[in-house]
Amino acid sequence: PLMGPKEMFAAAYAGRYAVGAFNVNNMEIVQGIMRAASEEKSPVILQVSAGARKYAGQTYIMKLVEAALIDDPSVPVVVHLDHGPSFEMCKDCIDGGFTSVMIDGSHLPYEENIALTKQVVDYAHPKGVWVEAELGKLAGVEEHVSSAEHVYTDPDEAVDFVRRTGCDSLAVAIGTSHGAYKFKGEAKLDFARLEAISAKLPGYPLVLHGASSVPQEFVELCNKYGGQVGGARGVPEDMLRKAAGMGVCKINVDTDIRLALTASIRQFLAEHPEQFDPRSYLTPAREAVKNMVAHKIRNVMGSSGKA
Ligand code: G3H
Ligand code: 13P
Ligand code: ZN
Repeated sequence: PLMGPKEMFAAAYAGRYAVGAFNVNNMEIVQGIMRAASEEKSPVILQVSAGARKYAGQTYIMKLVEAALIDDPSVPVVVHLDHGPSFEMCKDCIDGGFTSVMIDGSHLPYEENIALTKQVVDYAHPKGVWVEAELGKLAGVEEHVSSAEHVYTDPDEAVDFVRRTGCDSLAVAIGTSHGAYKFKGEAKLDFARLEAISAKLPGYPLVLHGASSVPQEFVELCNKYGGQVGGARGVPEDMLRKAAGMGVCKINVDTDIRLALTASIRQFLAEHPEQFDPRSYLTPAREAVKNMVAHKIRNVMGSSGKA
């Protein structure tokens, strides 16, 4: 069923696991994720970015989610706006049936981030909708804003921010970044900082963005079949599992879906140059998304059997 994250995160927090939040942009991605969650008997978050709304249209995405729920009502599903850039877009999504929204004011000065987040909370809460906010900056490209430097989340500020905004969950910056190029050298996250934030906000669900692992098998397949995905590196799976036991209840994955899908399509088309029926290459591509998500649910989130 469609639900809000409240009970989902309470169970995840207590059980020291996380719920995977996977970005959806089209039917094959929705189906791949939902089939994985169904097989793994896991809760799942389907998240929709501003770019996804622009690409597919909010109505299409919502109807795909509705179709998925009719197909398998047993999967607990949250529909979430990823990186909401404005009050207006959050409002549109809340009015359109999303059960959770993120307002991303992380690029704003502190007090402005608080004011914008509070405005969304004040609209969302009477309607029973969950609000995720972000404090600190991830290096790399965040929606339309790019930041050269990480600005790690300050633990005391996090407490003040949550208290003053009333936001329900908080995305923290501890060294992850969006996209396929996360680390130049060795992968490193600031676990001491995560521990400090978590200790100051006991019982409070934290969110990890930029959490794709960039599996090298997908990078190699892309490159073997004509791609140019050089030097891509993600967050090692053991670090994500560790974070899931430290108050991180939601782990965001988009890049790994893109890589799984594209690797599969590149391989299929290279091996079957005579094919041009989209169903011929989108069938294995959807299966590749399913297998990647199932692996993640089982081995990274730890949410198998928690539906
Ligand atoms: O955080 C970014 C997500 O990967 C969504 O990316 O804005 O290109 O849809 P997008
Ligand atoms: P990745 O680019 O690591 O998949 O992160 C996705 C994300 O944080 C979406 O909000
Ligand atoms: Zn993100």
